[in-house]
Amino acid sequence: PASGQEGAKQQHLIVVSNRLPVTIKADPQAEGGYTFSLSSGGLVSALSGAKKTMHFTWIGWPGLSVPPQDEAYIAEKLKTDYSCEPVWLDDDVADAHYNGFSNSILWPLFHYHPGEMSFDEQHWLAYREANLSFAEKVREVVNEGDMVWVQDYHLMLLPLMLRTLIEGSSLQGPHSRRELEHVRHGVDGTSFLQGSEDLAPPPGDPRNKSHRGGAAVDEKGSGKGTADGKSSRGAIKIGFFLHTPFPSSEIYRILPVRREILLGILHCDLIGFHTYDYARHFLSACTRILGVPTMPNGAEFEGRYVHVGTFPIGIEPATFHDGLRKDAVVQRLKVLERRFEGVKIIVGVDRLDYIKGVPQKLHALEQFLTDHPEWVGKVVLVQVAVPSRQDVEEYQNLRATVNEAVGRINGRFGTVESMPIHFLHRSVSFDELCALYAVSDACLVTSTRDGMNLVSYEYIACQQERNGVMILSEFAGAAQSLNGSLIVNPWDKFAVADAIHEALTMPSETRRANFEKLSGYVGKHTASWWGSSFVNELRKIKVGDFPIMQ
Ligand code: ADP
Ligand code: G6P
Repeated sequence: PASGQEGAKQQHLIVVSNRLPVTIKADPQAEGGYTFSLSSGGLVSALSGAKKTMHFTWIGWPGLSVPPQDEAYIAEKLKTDYSCEPVWLDDDVADAHYNGFSNSILWPLFHYHPGEMSFDEQHWLAYREANLSFAEKVREVVNEGDMVWVQDYHLMLLPLMLRTLIEGSSLQGPHSRRELEHVRHGVDGTSFLQGSEDLAPPPGDPRNKSHRGGAAVDEKGSGKGTADGKSSRGAIKIGFFLHTPFPSSEIYRILPVRREILLGILHCDLIGFHTYDYARHFLSACTRILGVPTMPNGAEFEGRYVHVGTFPIGIEPATFHDGLRKDAVVQRLKVLERRFEGVKIIVGVDRLDYIKGVPQKLHALEQFLTDHPEWVGKVVLVQVAVPSRQDVEEYQNLRATVNEAVGRINGRFGTVESMPIHFLHRSVSFDELCALYAVSDACLVTSTRDGMNLVSYEYIACQQERNGVMILSEFAGAAQSLNGSLIVNPWDKFAVADAIHEALTMPSETRRANFEKLSGYVGKHTASWWGSSFVNELRKIKVGDFPIMQ
C-alpha cells in the first residue's frame, strides 16, 4: 500500500466518500465506452486539493452500474489514473441510498429544511446496505495500523460497521444489541424500527450475509481482523468528517433514526466539523439523545474516548493562480472584459440546490434594480447553476422556480441590448470558471445553510487584480472565517440589495484592504492544511487515551 505522510511511512491512509473525483458516463462513442470527467462539489474539490500533498487510496461509488464485463475496465482505469477503488452498488440500492436516505432525508434535515424531508423505511434499509458494501470494500484493502477517513453524511454507519467487521468490536454495553442489528440485518431484513428489542436473525439466517457474495459478517460479527476469533480492537484508526452543517439538536431529533446515526459515527477515534457550532450541536445531540457524557472536545462512548474537533476546509489557491496564468484563460478574460465593458459583473456559482438560496439571490437583485434604477443595464448577474441531484423531486421543483424568476426579472429589466441575469444551467470548464471569477466585480453567495462554501474561497483566490467584493450569507460556514466579506442575511432582500449597492460603489482602498485580509486567510487555510491537520490529529490519538471526565 501507498505510504501515509512523512514520519508514518507504513501507515496507509484510506479515504472513503460516496462521490469520487471523477464522474463516469456510458458513451458508445468514447474510448472504452465511457467518459471520465471531473466531479463537482466541495468535498471533491477539497480532497482533490489535499491529494496534492497527501497520498491516499480513495474509495467511492462510481455513480453508475455497468455490465459485469466492464467493471474490471473501469476499476483498472480508476486505479491507474486516479488511485481510486470503486464500490459497486445495485441500481435500486444506489438510488435509495443516494437519492433517498442521503439526499431526501439527511441532506434537508442537516440544512434545516425538515419540510423537504421524506422519511421512508426502505431508504433507511438501503442506506445500511450501501454502507455495508463500502465496509466490505474497505476490508479488502485495509491492513492493521491503517487509518480510514470516512467522509460525509452518506456514510455515517460506516465507522460502526468497520469496527465490527474489521476489529470484531466486543459490542459490550447498553448499545450492543442495536449495533449488532445494524450490521446483521441486510436490506431484506426486518426493520428494527419496529422496536428496539428486535433480536438479530438466528445463526444461519441468510440475512447474516451481505447481498454481494456474503463476504461481510459471520455469525460472531467478526471479520478480517478477527479470523482467529480474537478481537483486534484498535487495529485501525477511524476518522469521520462531516462536510455539511450538523444542525441544532432541536432539528436533529426529528430524525426517526437519530440514535442509530449518532451511534454509527461514535465508533470513530476522531470526528471533525467545519465550525465550532456544528461540533457543539453534535455533542449536545449525543448527550440529549443517547445520554453519552461529553466534553467540549469529545465524548465518552463504550469505553473509548471519541475526539471531536473543528477543521475548517479550504481550497488550493495555487491551482487558481496557475489557472489564471494559462494562455487560454488570459484570452478568455480579455474577451469577457470587452464584452462587458462599462458593465459591472456579479458572479454566482452554485450547484442548483435549494440550500444555495438562488431564488433569494434573484429576489435581492430584483430589489436592488428596483431601488437603484440607475444601475439597470450597468450590472449583470452571471449565475452558473450546476445541475445536481436531478432525480430528487425538490431539485426539479427548484429548477422550475428559478427559471420562472429569471424569466420574470429579465422580462422586467431587460432591454434589446442587455439582460440583467445571464443564467447558465450547466457545468462550465475550469478555465471558464477561473476567467469568470477573475472578471467579476463581486461574488454573491446567499446560501440559506451551507457547510462551508468553497466558491467564496475560489472567488477570493482569483481577485488579486480586481479586488472584488465578497457578499456572503451569514448561514454559510465560511462566514465565520472570511473576515473582510460583506455578511448578509439572505432572507432579507433589502439588506442583500443594500450590500450589492455597497459592493458596486466601494472605494478601491477599502476593497484592497478587505482583499488582503481575505486572501491571507484563504492562502493559509488550504485544502492541504485541512487534510493534514485532520490526519495528523488522528495519527496522534492513542487508543485508550482517555481525558479525565468531569
Ligand atoms: P457544494 O459542495 O455544496 O457544492 P461548495 O461551494 O463548497 O458547495 O463547492 C462547490 C465546488 O464545486 C467548488 O469547488 C466549485 O469550483 C466546484 N464546481 C463548480 N462548478 C463546477 C464545474 N462545472 N465542474 C467542476 N466543479 C465545479
Ligand atoms: C456537498 C456534499 C458532498 C457532495 C457534493 C456534491 O458538498 O457535502 O458530499 O459530493 O455536495 O453533491 P453530489 O450529490 O453530486 O455528490
